[in-house]
Amino acid sequence: MAQLIVALDVPSADEAERLIDRLYELDVIFKIGMESLYGYPERIFSYCEARDVRYFVDAKLHDIPRTVGAAMRALVRPGAHIINVHALGGAEMMRAAVDAAHERASELGISQPHVFAVTILTSHSSDDLAGIGLAGDAAANATRLAALARAAGCSGVVCSAHEVTALKSRLGADFLTLTPGIRPSGSEHGDQRRVMTPAQAVAVGADYLVVGRPITGASDPLAAARAVLDEMKQHA
Ligand code: C5P
Repeated sequence: MAQLIVALDVPSADEAERLIDRLYELDVIFKIGMESLYGYPERIFSYCEARDVRYFVDAKLHDIPRTVGAAMRALVRPGAHIINVHALGGAEMMRAAVDAAHERASELGISQPHVFAVTILTSHSSDDLAGIGLAGDAAANATRLAALARAAGCSGVVCSAHEVTALKSRLGADFLTLTPGIRPSGSEHGDQRRVMTPAQAVAVGADYLVVGRPITGASDPLAAARAVLDEMKQHA
């Protein structure tokens, strides 16, 4: 059964804590992305841990292998269910991240977080890829990067739901996929380009669905999250 991840993309710790409280009963995973990670790191980690919720650290690490390994060590904490890096950082960098995550988790005596690799951002269209010098479409690039991530020991990849079928048939159903760019029908796409509805994403076999603005921007975030979960269950 696919799991819902709610992106805590809000500007203050007070708002993030309110959102966690409002959604607490749903047992979702919370995403600590750049806005919360750079804006109020200590508060968000402490709050998630005090309330014993699982979280995904969307750090998108991308640097030389030693630096990424050191950053990964700093991010491994109880409650960190998933931590990610950019696959474009290359095989050696991803391997350094995976090794550091496993080492640090065993030093702390906690369960090992999954290390995921971002393939191609869901805000990128094929034209954007040409602009940054990547030949081929998003699906071809995502599949190539996912194969590299799997060989480097990652548990899965962040990709568009449009790429899940091709990825799983090439790399196996057990290689996990985490899909942002999820938009319930009728909601605004914003800057996302390669989108799918929750029902479609579950139908193609995505393992984790990330939803931000359609929930955080709703007048009733609890009702919006429930509606996404209901749609996911109906199509599981
Ligand atoms: O508000 P929305 O549902 O578009 O939020 C999606 C979240 O997922 C954002 O926090 C964004 O940073 C993140 N993300 C993404 N595409 C990726 C990786 C992460 O949209 N490839």
